[in-house]
Amino acid sequence: MNKINIAIDGPAAAGKSTIAKLVAAELHMVYVDTGAMYRAITLAHLEQPDTSFETLVNAIDLKIINDNGQKIFLNGVDVSERIRENDITLNVSYVASQKAVREKLVGIQQEMTAAKGVVMDGRDIGTHVIPDAELKIYMIASVTERAERRLLDNQQRGIEANFDDLVKDIERRDHIDMTREISPLMKAHDAIEIDTTGMTIEAVKDKIIQLARKINV
Ligand code: C5P
Repeated sequence: MNKINIAIDGPAAAGKSTIAKLVAAELHMVYVDTGAMYRAITLAHLEQPDTSFETLVNAIDLKIINDNGQKIFLNGVDVSERIRENDITLNVSYVASQKAVREKLVGIQQEMTAAKGVVMDGRDIGTHVIPDAELKIYMIASVTERAERRLLDNQQRGIEANFDDLVKDIERRDHIDMTREISPLMKAHDAIEIDTTGMTIEAVKDKIIQLARKINV
């Protein structure tokens, strides 16, 4: 489906990336996880805490390779796994609230979607990055279910985690993301909300694919 873009937004750990990746593969579209881009800038910031965000984003070399999944390189180093660790998750929403960071990344994201054929997930994709996306999904799920999913995901990645801390982190990040000044997380007026609580990955994927096929007839 190379004539449309699909925007998938929603709060932390709602399953956006998992679903976006599957939808993109089935529809032969390119999958872009924008959260990974904010996470990579967060890593750069933790490595150079005294550098201003403006200098930081203008100096770094960020490469995203989208080929059946996504790999992200910061200054030539593959940081795709490193950016999932707890120090990054703890700091990413603060870094993502910085104007210089958002301007830089939104610019890159808009270039990536200009030719269409992209499934992009994040927080401000339908509202800000591609407001003209042909299909916009706002994906939600209960905090308990999101924490359970993240716990499983972290265990599979070998990242230390416990359920109560994950609930707190998800609530804290959602609060920062929803109340920040620049393009806060919100449902676009024309987005379709999907509550994935109790739904299987397969069912959510199929629902989005059906919606996409209806548009791209
Ligand atoms: O999607 P993920 O949880 O990896 O995103 C990490 C963080 O990056 C979010 O909590 C949010 O603060 C930020 N983010 C954002 N805008 C996006 C994608 C992610 O502010 N489009």
